[in-house]
Amino acid sequence: TVHETWQQLADHALVPVVVLDDPAAALPLGQALVDGGLPVAEVTLRTPEALAGIRELAGYGGLLVGAGTVLTPQQVDLAVEAGARYVVSPGLSRAVVERCQAIGVPVLPGAVTATEVQAAVELGLEAVKFFPAATSGGPAAVSALAAPFAGMRFVPTGGIDAGNVADYLALPAVLAVGGSWMVPRAAIRAGDFARVRELTSQAVAATRGR
Ligand code: 3PG
Repeated sequence: TVHETWQQLADHALVPVVVLDDPAAALPLGQALVDGGLPVAEVTLRTPEALAGIRELAGYGGLLVGAGTVLTPQQVDLAVEAGARYVVSPGLSRAVVERCQAIGVPVLPGAVTATEVQAAVELGLEAVKFFPAATSGGPAAVSALAAPFAGMRFVPTGGIDAGNVADYLALPAVLAVGGSWMVPRAAIRAGDFARVRELTSQAVAATRGR
């Protein structure tokens, strides 16, 4: 049985990966995502403003907010305290995974090799982030990697855009697809939330029929 949070990601099929430079952009960004039909945001801890952004978005309600680029157990605690409902890590960190498990927060660590996926299985995980997807072999690599690991689900992220998202979504082992193409950092910085809404609704349209 897939964790309820992963089921929500599967229902939306897409995970917008956000870099926030200004917490004041969080609410209009959240609104643009909701208006575009995608009430999900993974805010990466790559900027000092990320935690404040998570707090804003989590308080907004109706959005499934996760924390991305979580590298340490301490960042797990900070992100969850700010309101993140799931945690994403670029690689498979046992320390990060075990902290999440200890506090009961779903975690999506990166895994792109059989050894990494097997380690995720041993840690009791049912989903991993296939990152960076495009340079790690793309859809063909995801499907080859999925073959020996029945039940493992993948969230390919990295180098995915409107032009290739459908190739990933077509794979049964793909839980959802992540990326920043519908939430360009430059558009957020410029306050161009109409652009975010437009790119988001186009991305959502590409998932129809999945
Ligand atoms: C991530 O952290 O998930 C990636 O930076 C997103 O990759 P993208 O910007 O290539 O979509």
